[in-house]
Amino acid sequence: MIIDYKKYPTPRMRHHTAPNLYVPFNEFKVLPRYYPPIMPEIDWSMYFANAAPPTVLDIGCGRGGFLLEYALRNPTVNIFGVEVRKQAVEWIDSIIKGEQLPNAGVAWYNTTNGLPFITSESVDAVCYFFPDPWHKKKHHKRRAFNTLLVQEIHRVLKPTGTLYLMTDVEEVDAYQQEVLKAHTGFEFAYASDDVWDLPRTDHENFSIKKNIPYIRATVRKRF
Ligand SMILES: C[S@@+](CC[C@H](N)C(=O)[O-])C[C@H]1O[C@@H](n2cnc3c(N)ncnc32)[C@H](O)[C@@H]1O
Repeated sequence: MIIDYKKYPTPRMRHHTAPNLYVPFNEFKVLPRYYPPIMPEIDWSMYFANAAPPTVLDIGCGRGGFLLEYALRNPTVNIFGVEVRKQAVEWIDSIIKGEQLPNAGVAWYNTTNGLPFITSESVDAVCYFFPDPWHKKKHHKRRAFNTLLVQEIHRVLKPTGTLYLMTDVEEVDAYQQEVLKAHTGFEFAYASDDVWDLPRTDHENFSIKKNIPYIRATVRKRF
């Protein structure tokens, strides 16, 4: 099946959303009125036809090209995307509903709040692709890939599970390896093209089009 994207005109989307939406909810005295839901738990029947929890997560799924293609290629696997830009989520959701995809779900969510709605050791793959680099030091705290998220990824992955990473920013690669190393529960390895069997993401297509080199890595759970 191929999605006819002409049926779903892309809304104009900003690269970033309001700065306070990247802040964890527990850092606010009063939560901003317009803040992504906290989601301590999820009724999976709201997202997936088989009501089962997802076994693949797409963190910061952006415009959802990877999420949708993965769902089409793997009809027996539930894939769940989380994304902090509400417009992107609403657009992806309109495609999921329009195409009646039974195994794709997406939620407006800020991952600096962890992944409390995912059961421990229930996920085969966590995908974290082309994160916003937030180059300036004063913006580093907006990076979603922090100690908490890495702990959460480790918690939700099955013992055989893998975290898949891609970035076209060397500094982000170095930063991510540092955070992973500090955790100690992961085995990082760069991945060559021949071992990578995943659909392309929207940002990956952009990097290819612009001839921007990028790295791929597989990070296995060590214990
Ligand atoms: C450069 S885009 C890459 C999108 C997609 N993964 C791809 O490869 O095409 C990074 C995405 O991460 C999202 N993001 C950044 N911080 C986030 C957070 N704390 N929670 C959820 N999504 C976040 C951004 O809104 C953006 O859509």
